[in-house]
Amino acid sequence: MLHDSKHFVSDGIALTDLANREILSGTVLSSDGDRHVRLRRVLSEQLSACSVKQLGQELRTRAGLLVDEHIDSGCGAFDAAALSRQMAGDTVMRLMGLPEEVWPQLGERTAAFYDVCGPDGPRYQQALPLATAIVPFLHDTVTRDTVAEDSWLGAIYRAVNGGEFDESDAIPLASAYAVAAMDTTVLGLTEAIRQLAHHPKQWSLLRQDTSLAENAIHEALRLEAPVQGFGRLVAERVRLGDTWIEAGEQVWLLYGSAGRDTDKWGVAADAFNIRRLNARDHLAFGAGRHMCAGVPLALMQGRALLEALASRCTRLSPAGEANRMLNNVLRGWSRVPIAAQLTGPLIGSRQPQ
Ligand code: HEM
Repeated sequence: MLHDSKHFVSDGIALTDLANREILSGTVLSSDGDRHVRLRRVLSEQLSACSVKQLGQELRTRAGLLVDEHIDSGCGAFDAAALSRQMAGDTVMRLMGLPEEVWPQLGERTAAFYDVCGPDGPRYQQALPLATAIVPFLHDTVTRDTVAEDSWLGAIYRAVNGGEFDESDAIPLASAYAVAAMDTTVLGLTEAIRQLAHHPKQWSLLRQDTSLAENAIHEALRLEAPVQGFGRLVAERVRLGDTWIEAGEQVWLLYGSAGRDTDKWGVAADAFNIRRLNARDHLAFGAGRHMCAGVPLALMQGRALLEALASRCTRLSPAGEANRMLNNVLRGWSRVPIAAQLTGPLIGSRQPQ
């Protein structure tokens, strides 16, 4: 279905008309055809594997500093969710070109966008004002003249200058990229660390061979897809197995469920195995035309963070109860306490208790 964009279109990614018409309308996620191609092209260079590779050293340095800071301030213990939030948040906001003082305020709003993609209910209603405020908030904080040339926003305004979009499209476009990049990565990184803390043998394997870090991220995403599902609108009557689906109906695609399908993954579908050969074949990044545009960036951040942890910690273990973050579409954790056994004392830091 993800590969069949003739029958299943993205104008219908959220479950309610209000969200599709008022909040998602015109964004890269919910566009089809030529407009989608144009919206997707605007940051394709910045998000390409080649450009992201050039960020590698910067991300490794940031990951190392953050891991030291979090482990040090917790005297050997840390919250995997807070660490991942800072890693992904700092990276995306910096690349986006947003002024540092607005980072926390935007960070608090992005999950609301996913709540409003789900069914109408108390959580949806509570999120509506926050989700609708993202674009006006960015309008108030970003001005064309203060945007750095080499940032994502800089690239978006260059496309406006080149006549590819109207000026009024710039902020909605930027907000969709920020929203797509933030919570997804935070939850994915958090889950990878949580899984490794629960599976000491897998942690040892990773420490012996850190090239397995990318597979560890894929396994975490397969098991606990941060975006559990998105909708599609049926554009033309279509047959699926024995069922006909009528034009105008909506389907909900369950990326999370696909990651646990025993027909695909075998009897060990529920196992976290960082040496799984086809680990990258999950649907947590979607597939087809709307497949995640930020895969290289998400994986690079994950690799940097896991490598930094592997070089400093001989062992990770759960250190108390983790808290789920509740959201209509996202799945993951808001707090995951981890105890780290260190390879040695951190330079200039307190000793773990
Ligand atoms: C682990 C982290 C991530 C996960 C699990 C994830 C997941 C997804 C999924 C499932 C979709 C498909 C939507 C659909 O089927 O309609 C998607 C699309 C998208 N993602 Fe990601 N994402 C992640 C990180 C990122 C990052 C770092 C960026 C950076 C900008 C990003 C940008 C986008 C964009 C722009 C789209 C829309 C693509 C389109 O509609 O053509 N994502 N993502």
